[in-house]
Amino acid sequence: MFLLSLGCRIVQFVFNCAALPLPWRKAITVEGAGSINRIPELLASCKAAKPLVVTDPGLVKAGIVSRVQSVLDKAGIPYALYSEVEPNPSVNTVNKIVEVYRSGLCDAFIAIGGGSAMDAAKGAAARLVRPRRSVNQLKGLFKVRRKIAPFIAIPTTAGTGSETTIAALITDTETHHKCAIMDLCLVPRYAVLDSELSAGLPPAITAATGMDALTHAVESYLCWTISTKESRRFALEAAKTIFENLEKVYRDGSNLEARQAMLKASYKAGFSFTRAGVGNIHAIVHALGGLYGTPHGLANAVIMPIVLEDYGKAVYKKLAKLAECAGVAEASRTVEQKAKLFIDAIYQMNERMGIPKNFDFIKDEDIDQMAKWAAHESNPLYPVPVVWDRKHFKRVIEQVRKGRAVFEPF
Ligand SMILES: [Fe+2]
Repeated sequence: MFLLSLGCRIVQFVFNCAALPLPWRKAITVEGAGSINRIPELLASCKAAKPLVVTDPGLVKAGIVSRVQSVLDKAGIPYALYSEVEPNPSVNTVNKIVEVYRSGLCDAFIAIGGGSAMDAAKGAAARLVRPRRSVNQLKGLFKVRRKIAPFIAIPTTAGTGSETTIAALITDTETHHKCAIMDLCLVPRYAVLDSELSAGLPPAITAATGMDALTHAVESYLCWTISTKESRRFALEAAKTIFENLEKVYRDGSNLEARQAMLKASYKAGFSFTRAGVGNIHAIVHALGGLYGTPHGLANAVIMPIVLEDYGKAVYKKLAKLAECAGVAEASRTVEQKAKLFIDAIYQMNERMGIPKNFDFIKDEDIDQMAKWAAHESNPLYPVPVVWDRKHFKRVIEQVRKGRAVFEPF
């Protein structure tokens, strides 16, 4: 275990040194209810004449896409449309988007949706500037290294942060394995954060996606290295905003002020984790999603507090800071108490939003495989506060199946 930890820390330190001088940037935000009306101006600023609108069938049905279409129509801007992006977009979908972009003679992207539409469009944008490489050949870090077409991201959920991250998660059509294309050039040019578009999101999806954003903030804040002053500030601000607003939008989806705050929090948490990394929570979440198709946000919500409890003393100081920012612990409490109150607050928020305490559907025979995948994803690169080997992952996954390990009321 000591050798594993040491090896991981050395790799993370070297990666941190290499990442420091890179030209990190954020998507430029255009914010507020009705901000989609500024799309023509954004396209003009990029000298784009014909965008490809990439989205999913659900958003077409919900009338969200037609709002953007009418903005483009009113401004006399021609566009092409691809509206067949599925959850966990596949390599085939990315390739179809490339075809539509080429045959429509497009010169920009407008991606409307949750992570899936944005990721699929980013994958297509990457393939267009690297036409000789397949999606599989582009997966991994810094394989694109070319400027992509102007990209406007319009998130309709407050969760993934894809509107400002370097990643595009694409699922292999044959193996069903998720892979990520990660490159600085994939950070969208603009992020349009328009609360009116997320007003109709159902409460359960609002809750799950919001908890995904909180996990990004918490995991990136807890990372051992790689974070910057700005990423840490963004993580704290995002956590505070999520604690203040997530339940408001869960109870009243039409609260545009709270929806707007959540969109900004998701953006900040997205920047924070794309700069600083995620950790063991996401590693288990991806393994669970791969085997059972558990929605990403829901899995994060359930697994986050269990992992934080397992980290124990190693994260008390940082969790105490998060607790103060989130307003869930009085200043008079000890560091340990503040940390435990923060974990408690997550459990309570989950309960109030109808999120389960555990995943009892996890099968005995799958735990080994999940632990193997999670350890493989996490080590050596994730800058986690505590390095876990496969055995430790196994124990925590068993806990995820059973639910909370301890409860120490104050
Ligand atoms: Fe996530």
